Amino acid sequence: MNTTTITVMGATGHTGAKIAQRLLKSGAKVRALGRTESKLAALRSAGAEVRTGDVADAGFLAEAFRGADAAYTLLATDRHAPDYAERQAREGEAIAGAVRDSGVSHVVALSSLGANLHEATGVIAGLHAQEGRLQRIAGINLLLLRPASFFENFFEALDVVRHMGVLADSVAPDIAMPMVAADDIAAVAAKALMERDWSGIAVQELLGPRDLSQAEVARILGQRIGQPDLHYVQLPDADMADALVGAGLSASFADLYVEMTRAFNANRVHPLAGCATRSCTPTTFEHFAGELAGAYAALLSCHKLVKTN
Ligand SMILES: NC(=O)c1ccc[n+]([C@@H]2O[C@H](COP(=O)([O-])OP(=O)(O)OC[C@H]3O[C@@H](n4cnc5c(N)ncnc54)[C@H](OP(=O)(O)O)[C@@H]3O)[C@@H](O)[C@H]2O)c1
Repeated sequence: MNTTTITVMGATGHTGAKIAQRLLKSGAKVRALGRTESKLAALRSAGAEVRTGDVADAGFLAEAFRGADAAYTLLATDRHAPDYAERQAREGEAIAGAVRDSGVSHVVALSSLGANLHEATGVIAGLHAQEGRLQRIAGINLLLLRPASFFENFFEALDVVRHMGVLADSVAPDIAMPMVAADDIAAVAAKALMERDWSGIAVQELLGPRDLSQAEVARILGQRIGQPDLHYVQLPDADMADALVGAGLSASFADLYVEMTRAFNANRVHPLAGCATRSCTPTTFEHFAGELAGAYAALLSCHKLVKTN
């Protein structure tokens, strides 16, 4: 019997790394794509075939997709890109061209909740456009995954918690929104890539077990890190954009980010299908907060080490 071969884009990222690991455990041959050889070393040791190249290089991608039974695709867009939307479009064209040229029959594509909307959703509008590019490929079997915001986004907030003692963003404090663990996205993606049990175009929303507001996230996280008074502060859009640029991200990304949070605040980005069993993923934020607490403790001890040295 032939071994299943699956190509995984972004194999060092939040979803791709976990998908690649799951596929290897299931016995698949994995072609793990990324841009940094050293970051792919662990997957190579675990048995993956590692390929490095740029996601905007259609030739590189077509070679990586050719002969595979299925491919996991995503827009890997670097948040430093000077024109984020243009870069999303360039990567999207390359991916669609490569899918077409390689003839790979099944594609599981990472999209986002809100990708049904074509404008005024910031970074999500680029994913809407990418859904369209892929859907137009004749004969494709395409599963579009539309996850909510990842729990993993809060890893990036930990440094602000350490410095400022608050959780801060431009999202309104009390709007409850779905949020999901990347590992739950990976579980659904890996199963679909192995089983390839759909045909034509399919859409799957991926929501956490329950909706959460930023204020609630701050409360749960605060308890786990031993700062029960941790609270959430909503920043004005301009301050949020300035903070992102101050952290080194491009102004273009910052503008699209706050546009996305405006769409969240206006309740324009929400599930369409409701919480069917397959949409509501199992990992709770309360459980995931344990991982965040571990990372926070490591951050504190690293900071102490630097101070004493
Ligand atoms: N975060 C959320 O809440 C959320 C929600 C819904 C949808 N999404 C979508 O999820 C996607 C990102 O997925 P993710 O979080 O799994 O990935 P990620 O953690 O952002 O990682 C990106 C991956 O792509 C690689 N990469 C970056 N630039 C590259 C380039 N120029 N050429 C080749 N590889 C490159 C990275 O490699 P290195 O390790 O070398 O950097 C890494 O493996 C985005 O399209 C985003 O819009 C995110």
